Amino acid sequence: MYNSKIIGLGKYVPENIVTNADLEKKIDTSDAWIQERTGVKERRHVVKGDGNTTATMAYKASKIALERAQIKPEELDLILMATLSPDYYFPGSGVLVQTLLGIAECPAMDIRMQCSGFVYAVATADQFIKTGMYKNVLVIGAEQQSGGLDMTTRGRNISVIFGDGAGAVVMTRAENNSVGVLSSHLHSDGEHAKELSLIGPNTNRWVHEIMAENDPEDISYYPYMNGQFVFKHAITRFAEVIQEGLDATGWKKEEIGILIPHQANLRIAQMVQRKFQLSDAQVFNNIERYGNTTAASIPIALTEAWEEGKIVSGTKVVLAAFGSGFTWGAIMIQW
Ligand code: UT7
Repeated sequence: MYNSKIIGLGKYVPENIVTNADLEKKIDTSDAWIQERTGVKERRHVVKGDGNTTATMAYKASKIALERAQIKPEELDLILMATLSPDYYFPGSGVLVQTLLGIAECPAMDIRMQCSGFVYAVATADQFIKTGMYKNVLVIGAEQQSGGLDMTTRGRNISVIFGDGAGAVVMTRAENNSVGVLSSHLHSDGEHAKELSLIGPNTNRWVHEIMAENDPEDISYYPYMNGQFVFKHAITRFAEVIQEGLDATGWKKEEIGILIPHQANLRIAQMVQRKFQLSDAQVFNNIERYGNTTAASIPIALTEAWEEGKIVSGTKVVLAAFGSGFTWGAIMIQW
């Protein structure tokens, strides 16, 4: 059995910045409301024609991660692509990234676990590396969500939060088992699947049926979120799964070098921080600049924390996520 470790990180966000003031022009909302309830000041949205899609943003982030890892695309054994906004309904975007990287034949697998997608993908990569089946794995979280949001007042509880972007890491076999991913903790509970979902079109109601009905009240093709319900579950599950990771590794909460929570809502991250009595230096947030980028939020934040020198050899890193499904999870990494 081998440990896996992260040896290269990269991120890409579209250039187009959408501020809260920009949203005020389209939606009945305010900068004060958005900042107070979510912490978001601005987010990035792709612009039609700028060449950005989920796959191309993922490719740009991956190129940086590969260069930093000093791994050539041909040396990859597996690509794992976490996204809820693949370029196409099918195939997934992993194969598109593979082609952009100019390689063929290594498996490229999409992981559909929404906000927990990157955590699930890291855990999956870890398992393939642990058993010795694969050595070098590219793990991506990427989203192009802006085009699918209801940018009217009707959709304001969702559209003000979400943003576009991509993050990627290269994982490889660690030289020894005292470093790298020490434990991963994954959970799902489908009971509340619809509380944060996009259900139309679906296999029981295809696009042509929605079009034939032509119902102006039908908003099933926009994401739906029961905000307060999701918020309450998120706080509980974040705390549970981080505690599970601490128990498995034997780390004390004071020993956490950096906690990178999925950037769902700054208030959620702050409540988790208070629950574990962590200092500001122990928790990394960047939601104020990018909003909630779903599967991309953790790899973008992880990359920025690393670029800022907050993660060095010896740092104890905790990744934790909660989101649609419901799904949640944590990864404990000894850097
Ligand atoms: O990433 C996956 C996991 N996602 C999450 O963890 C998100 C969890 N939920 C949340 O972050 C919060 O529930 C939201 C930020 C989505 C909403 O905040 P909230 O404090 O729960 O607001 P609410 O939905 O209960 O709405 C309160 C009021 C409502 O008005 P009334 O009915 O009291 O008159 C909403 O219509 O705020 C109104 N509202 C807004 N007002 C201005 C909702 N969205 C907006 C908005 N601007 N953007």
